[in-house]
Amino acid sequence: MSTSPSTQQHGANDGRGPDKGHGVSHGHGEGHGHGHGHGTDHGHGAGHAHGANHDHAHAVEGQAEILDLDAEVLAGQLAEITAWLPLASAPRHIVDLGSGTGTGTFALLARFPDARVTAVDASAEHLRRLSARAEASGLADRVRTVRADLDGEWPDLGAPDLVWASASMHHMADPDRALRKVRDLLTPGGLFAVVELAGFPRFLPPDAPAESPGLEDRLHADSDAFHAEHVPHRGADWGPMLTAAGFTIDAERTISIHLDRSHSDAVGRYALESLRLLRTTLGETLSRADSSALDSLLDPHGPGSIAHRDDLAVRTERMVWAARRE
Ligand SMILES: C[S@@+](CC[C@H](N)C(=O)[O-])C[C@H]1O[C@@H](n2cnc3c(N)ncnc32)[C@H](O)[C@@H]1O
Repeated sequence: MSTSPSTQQHGANDGRGPDKGHGVSHGHGEGHGHGHGHGTDHGHGAGHAHGANHDHAHAVEGQAEILDLDAEVLAGQLAEITAWLPLASAPRHIVDLGSGTGTGTFALLARFPDARVTAVDASAEHLRRLSARAEASGLADRVRTVRADLDGEWPDLGAPDLVWASASMHHMADPDRALRKVRDLLTPGGLFAVVELAGFPRFLPPDAPAESPGLEDRLHADSDAFHAEHVPHRGADWGPMLTAAGFTIDAERTISIHLDRSHSDAVGRYALESLRLLRTTLGETLSRADSSALDSLLDPHGPGSIAHRDDLAVRTERMVWAARRE
């Protein structure tokens, strides 16, 4: 019988806290009330709408779904990254910072069968999904979840020999502080793997859809403008910041990803859920033509539905830094 994964709560509110002074909730910082968590970069688009709780809950659900689809579609790339990590020996204790629903956690558990993972996130809902999956896969006794807002006081996370942070470091209000915290957390000789992405993946050909060519570019431009203002470290070069925090960079790489629809059934669902979330978050900012073109793509039964397109692909990049604490 498997053990239930334990969950600790640290420094997080109940997820209904007001955003810090923005008036309108521009995000989905579920669980820590700062509005800077706003879900997923491979999942939230612009994220500046909808403060109401039901919208919030819906958005969190949508983001969790997208994180899981991202994990499914990009499983091969993730496995490539965990295999590439310059480790002298297999880690025993791993901390997954900003674990979300567990994309990194489960990839690491698979790669390092003797390791246990402490998954830390501000979102109670994401951690619930992660725990349920750990339970269902018989991995619960190797996973501990800790709910914490890493912009606040850090909980006791033990002494890991590997810390993994995928698409989460850029959410930190003070990334330099977070990097120093990781440095202090790691055992000497331990490795910090930072995986980041420059932006939301693209799915449509540049000239699609026929009634509104370039739609996805315009959605991205809007989303990017939001991020430049509110999440300025997304797409940053983490190398110099890691060095300034006392790490030695052992290796770094960029992976360019282009997977067409035949790669997996999940590509279509990933595109659909992602564009649906962009529709929700960018809603009123879209022109009438773009709005109607997006609605046609999202209509599951209409002739313009994304479900009927065979030209979808996932195009994105991952940047990885492997930083050592000497
Ligand atoms: C883009 S998701 C990435 C999730 C996961 N690492 C992955 O690769 O799929 C970012 C995660 O960071 C979490 N997060 C953002 N700000 C945080 C903070 N201040 N403290 C703890 N977690 C935070 C969010 O709740 C979210 O789950």
